[in-house]
Amino acid sequence: MNETSIMAGLSDLASAHKLRPIKALFDDEPNRLQFLSIQAPGLYADLSKQKVDEKSLALLLQLAKVKNLSGFFTAMAEGKIVNLTENRAAQHMALRAPADLPMQALGQDISADVQNQRRKMRRFADQMREGNITGTTGRALRTIIHIGIGGSELGPRLLAQALYRHRAPAMELRFAANLDAAEINDALQGCDPETTLITVVSKTFTTRETLANAKMARAWLVQHLGKDAPAKHMIAVSSNRAAGQKFGIKSDNVFALNDWVGGRFSLWSAVGISLMAALQEGAFEDLLAGAAAMDRHVLQTPVAQNAPLLSGLIQYWNCNFAHLQGRTIVPYAARLALLPSYLQQLIMESNGKNIGVDGKPAGQTASPVIFGAEGTNAQHAFFQYLHQGPAIVPVDFIGVGQDQENNPGHHHAVLANMLAQSRALMCGAGAKADAPHKMFEGNRPSTTLLLDALSPFSLGALLSFYEHETVAQAVMCGLNPFDQWGVELGKHVAFDLENRLENADTKGMDPSTAALIKKIAKPS
Ligand code: F6P
Repeated sequence: MNETSIMAGLSDLASAHKLRPIKALFDDEPNRLQFLSIQAPGLYADLSKQKVDEKSLALLLQLAKVKNLSGFFTAMAEGKIVNLTENRAAQHMALRAPADLPMQALGQDISADVQNQRRKMRRFADQMREGNITGTTGRALRTIIHIGIGGSELGPRLLAQALYRHRAPAMELRFAANLDAAEINDALQGCDPETTLITVVSKTFTTRETLANAKMARAWLVQHLGKDAPAKHMIAVSSNRAAGQKFGIKSDNVFALNDWVGGRFSLWSAVGISLMAALQEGAFEDLLAGAAAMDRHVLQTPVAQNAPLLSGLIQYWNCNFAHLQGRTIVPYAARLALLPSYLQQLIMESNGKNIGVDGKPAGQTASPVIFGAEGTNAQHAFFQYLHQGPAIVPVDFIGVGQDQENNPGHHHAVLANMLAQSRALMCGAGAKADAPHKMFEGNRPSTTLLLDALSPFSLGALLSFYEHETVAQAVMCGLNPFDQWGVELGKHVAFDLENRLENADTKGMDPSTAALIKKIAKPS
């Protein structure tokens, strides 16, 4: 079968599908759980409550073959140019690969470089935890303020919260991302400058938010400790070493970031330095090991049993054949509250595109609108919509098998709620004739990912799972998931408007923006 006939077959099945509720598919397909659930490293993926059947899955697998999905992942692992608009490799897998696995980018051996960077990070983090990194007054640096935004912040912030139980007791980690000064002010509030380290993380070292916050932090250090303070109290992570040094950060204190890693895939690199130092010894390495285990799974398992790739195919089906344009992420763990924000960037910045790698409109959707919040809170916010709303929104339920709070009552109640929601969405419930508002149609799809534990290993595997699933959807749609040209225009317009606000300059502006400039520049 060629691509056109597979696509036609899938469209046909999608319309026929409207007749077969998910629940009925379990009766039709007695082995449904076997082919739609996968024990992967660190997590169990149950895709059986998605609205696909054996036939549609078979066609999706054929389409993956035609589109050389596995071949793309092999090319990515080999460090070939897969980021076509920027002529780069996407070698985030190298950052977590075991030390003895040779890795390349664009034909160059990068293993030694990666190992050196990892060693440098580990040395710094160990010394920091041991109290051997000292400031201008000789006191040990104990509070880290991590300044960065997007891929330079979301991952470390998510994991600092998620791995709270693995934190190094003597260390404190704070974050500032927003251009609104409130965040950096709050982060600095109550910190002792003598014991504070500022980590500035920016791949480009040109990001408006990060530079504004870094300047404020630098001024704070200088005000309290004198002009030599930045040399001892600031480090940077960037692929733009010169800009970091120009900012006043000592060359030795600039950790490198390679151009073959994209911002939203960079958590595994020196971008994680603050996190590594704030976690117990070995935790960051366990995170890398979990991600690497998922990488092995993705590269060595046939697509039909491959958790991220199979899930990617199902999400591709949801967007393009079932025409579902939203997806919600609901982790049933309070410590995973930031997972939806992290995945919003990963999925929407990677795949929120409609021009294909061939420069033509892709005509397919690789990213639905992503939103989410932690369960059970989300049940009291947007679940009304999920159960009875006008549009069907597939859900990712993420649960944690092990009770780390040592509170079995709570733990079972949380997981019971998660299972209840996925079941209720699938099964629905009828209503009496006089109460149509109590009708639940059901037949609403979801995935359940059950993590072994809220451990560094399982979380590494989970984030790697989502990275691969995201890339898989892009490949199926013929998009490049590794660039983000869509964020550029707004940045340029903002630069122009910042000047205009200062001078109340409305020349050439549309009437709406002109009126707003006047109001902001001269508040009444
Ligand atoms: O939002 C655009 C973006 O370039 C993201 O891709 C990136 O994660 C973020 O800004 C931060 O960029 P940088 O690390 O260069 O400061």
